[in-house]
Amino acid sequence: MELWHIRGGKRLEGACFVQGSKNASLPILAASILAPLRCELHNVPQLRDVDAALRILRHLGCLAEQRGNDVYIDSSTLSGCSIPHSLMEEMRSSVIFMGALIARCGEARLSLPGGCQLGKRPIDLHLSALRQLGAEIEEDGMDICCRRAELKGAEITLPFPSVGATENAMLAACAAKGTTTIRGAAREPEIEALQEFLRSAGAEISGAGGGTIRIEGFHPNARSVCRIIPDRIVASTIACAAAAAGGDVELRGIDPRHFSTLLYFLNKAGCDIISSNRSVRVRSRGKLRAVGEVVTEPYPGFPTDAQPVLMAAMLRAEGKTVMRETIFENRFRQVPELRRLGADITSSGQTAEIWGVDCLHGAALTATDLRGGAAMIVAGLAARGETVICDDGHVTRGYEHFDMRLRALGADIYLDF
Ligand code: UD1
Repeated sequence: MELWHIRGGKRLEGACFVQGSKNASLPILAASILAPLRCELHNVPQLRDVDAALRILRHLGCLAEQRGNDVYIDSSTLSGCSIPHSLMEEMRSSVIFMGALIARCGEARLSLPGGCQLGKRPIDLHLSALRQLGAEIEEDGMDICCRRAELKGAEITLPFPSVGATENAMLAACAAKGTTTIRGAAREPEIEALQEFLRSAGAEISGAGGGTIRIEGFHPNARSVCRIIPDRIVASTIACAAAAAGGDVELRGIDPRHFSTLLYFLNKAGCDIISSNRSVRVRSRGKLRAVGEVVTEPYPGFPTDAQPVLMAAMLRAEGKTVMRETIFENRFRQVPELRRLGADITSSGQTAEIWGVDCLHGAALTATDLRGGAAMIVAGLAARGETVICDDGHVTRGYEHFDMRLRALGADIYLDF
């Protein structure tokens, strides 16, 4: 159990480099097994989820090691195609190994993935895309067995732009004969990052970042080098912390376009946003204003992962903010915890209403999930007195050295293991 101790009310000031993206790293780690590759990945965050992906790679027979923020993989020694439930349940992204394994080995045996309990989170779109490429898939309760004699290029149309289903389809399509077109694809920056990696590994792939991705062939290189993009959700969290606690923070190394919807709302709330090519400065100007309605949507809309942290920033904003969650059924789990700090929030179904209060006070909280836990940290930084968050390892799944990074900005926060 981890305990976050926060003494709120301190302004955040200074500059910080944003860590590498978890959600870009994980599919790229899975993609490293597509062919016998030596991969060198830079700017990979040191996180529990990354560690889980490395353990999956080792279980499959690959050499995989992280030194600081560099990861070295040799997948030429891959010797297995099954992943035990104990590894699958550690995170949601373990499911992306399905597309990679079926491409490399013609077979994948695994079970339903774990991850934050945000709702039903089925994998029907993943399975349908793989079936359209020619995979035969049997499901038996928790267990999934995929086989293919040959994968054939296909026209796949996703009824919803699922990030994971797009990634699985991209990976499996690399081994398909002929051209694959994925329409209705997710457009997140992490999908573009996966395309960049696949290109460096030898794939002919284009279109990522738009709604249609084409994969025309794969002529594996022996070696691939890639730098992981900065994490737009971590950047959003620190920006919200600066807005909530008051401050003047420069986020370095991040492309402002990747979290422009969040920056739009912070600006609407009264913060100055000063953007350049690769950095953003967020400067609060006293009391925040409520921002009206915020609706989560697939990228380039407002991200569901930033909803809890923006909610935390709005707890003391003057007026009413309404959050409408359209991606996950169960993404307001942080609400009862935030109320313990004195927040005035009600949630019903997919909508939450926040009335800004003058003052939040410290309290004992329990982290509910990764981004919900981050929201509690943001709120704790804005609350008077001490907040202690009891966390069963949620936040460290996605935030690297988060206590140290916030301390460097002037926050009074400590993490006890
Ligand atoms: C990814 C991100 C996660 C983010 C989410 C939405 C990673 C590791 N995780 O998760 O942080 O919150 O995108 O931006 O990148 N769905 C189905 N059937 C499927 C697949 C998805 O119904 O087969 C539904 C899900 O239940 C959910 C919605 O589609 O309601 C979005 O899911 P998806 O885009 O697939 O998210 P993930 O890839 O799991």
